[in-house]
Amino acid sequence: MNIAVIGAGYVGLVTGVCLAEIGHKVICIDNDEKKIKALKQGACPIYEPGLEQMMAGLCKKKRLSFTTSIREATQRSEVIFIAVGTPSKKNGDADLTYVENVARQIAENMDSYKLIVEKSTVPAETGQRVKRTIMLNLPQKYRKGKNAVAFDVASNPEFLREGSAIEDFMNPDRVVIGVESKKAEELLREVYKPLKPKMVVTNINSAEIIKHASNSFLATKISFANALSQICDRVGADVLKVAEGMGYDKRIGRSFLNAGVGYGGSCFPKDVDAFIRLSQRSGYEFELLKEVRNINELQKRAFVQFIEDKLWILKGKTIGVLGLAFKPDTDDMRKAPSIDIIQMFLAEGARVRAYDPQATENAKKVMKKAAYFKDAYTMAKGCDCLVLLTEWEEFSRLDFRRLAKLMKQPILFDGRNFYWQHGLEKFGFEYHGIGRGQGGLKGSV
Ligand SMILES: NC(=O)c1ccc[n+]([C@@H]2O[C@H](COP(=O)([O-])OP(=O)(O)OC[C@H]3O[C@@H](n4cnc5c(N)ncnc54)[C@H](O)[C@@H]3O)[C@@H](O)[C@H]2O)c1
Repeated sequence: MNIAVIGAGYVGLVTGVCLAEIGHKVICIDNDEKKIKALKQGACPIYEPGLEQMMAGLCKKKRLSFTTSIREATQRSEVIFIAVGTPSKKNGDADLTYVENVARQIAENMDSYKLIVEKSTVPAETGQRVKRTIMLNLPQKYRKGKNAVAFDVASNPEFLREGSAIEDFMNPDRVVIGVESKKAEELLREVYKPLKPKMVVTNINSAEIIKHASNSFLATKISFANALSQICDRVGADVLKVAEGMGYDKRIGRSFLNAGVGYGGSCFPKDVDAFIRLSQRSGYEFELLKEVRNINELQKRAFVQFIEDKLWILKGKTIGVLGLAFKPDTDDMRKAPSIDIIQMFLAEGARVRAYDPQATENAKKVMKKAAYFKDAYTMAKGCDCLVLLTEWEEFSRLDFRRLAKLMKQPILFDGRNFYWQHGLEKFGFEYHGIGRGQGGLKGSV
């Protein structure tokens, strides 16, 4: 099939590359000229394992191409995915400016039937707005009569995770499609046929809600684990054992029950906010989700307070941060917990030295006052403590004896309970996890 994907970011680029890999002819569009120029030269603008290699092969076979022209892409394709950003407005609403712009531009360039698919995460009823925008912006000659151009709008939310995006796209737990016509359903079934996925077919509003509800539920699980960590620390219980004991129950499951410094990234915070706002506007106050958000914020403050407790005074101390990205295997810094935590250290007068395997360049753009290093050992030199914020696999292979020697004092605060089995004490470290019954992370909501 001839497919266009508008927005060549973390989702759009992976979607475009994977759709080409499973046999379609795909054109990816972005209005960022630098990005498209780089992509045309074979350079991948994001760090996502396996993506660049896959891209190179597909470009050679001419199954994948890039352009800045929505006109070219619209006219060449029958199915058009919208995968532009939907960031938060100040009040928490999803900012749909990019979606609206793209819908208008598609309409202006349509000359035959198109299926326009929302891949971006959007609030319920956005599909209806996209439809209206397209109708209002279709060229006059295509609106009515014998030249009338038909189109469908559909919702097909994306559930991939950065860091394992290709694997997630190729082996989805399910593909959700929200449609209003048989033709739209058939076209989308055809798009995904090579993956043989479990399909959930519903109306557009339900599909839109499925995405917001899924992310909000996962955020709820994380905040639940974090609230547990607070209790465990106070009563001398171990949150890791509690999560294990709960997780074997199939109704609960172990995943997303990890206590830590909270969730971040470009999706959970904004999607929880947008879902709270959508509920509010529909006349329902989603108090549960508001508390999920509060717990997430508290967890970062409580972590910093705990560190301050242990270091006695933060002012003048040098803190070494291991990991900055919002999760491992990505260079994405959007809403990473490291940003708030480092700001709190700096506000207390501490110095921050940081190392991340991939996210340093993006981190420099949002945190100018930290010092950045090319490896963990150089970073650890003279530090009063290390703080792990992102559980990159390479951090499990560090030479802890060497690190301890380089530091002023060997203390490690583990914001992800990553080292719980490492026995860091035997390398001379004073080790602190989260919710391990050490009476540590006390903070009040
Ligand atoms: N990142 C994830 O893990 C993830 C997972 C599932 C869903 N989503 C959702 O997917 C959507 C995209 O997220 P992302 O992380 O890929 O965002 P992103 O910011 O990485 O990419 C968006 C791209 O759209 C481009 N763009 C904006 N306006 C445009 C226009 N008028 N024409 C052409 N291109 C335009 C931008 O230049 C950018 O490259 C969001 O709604 C997000 O919530 C993201």
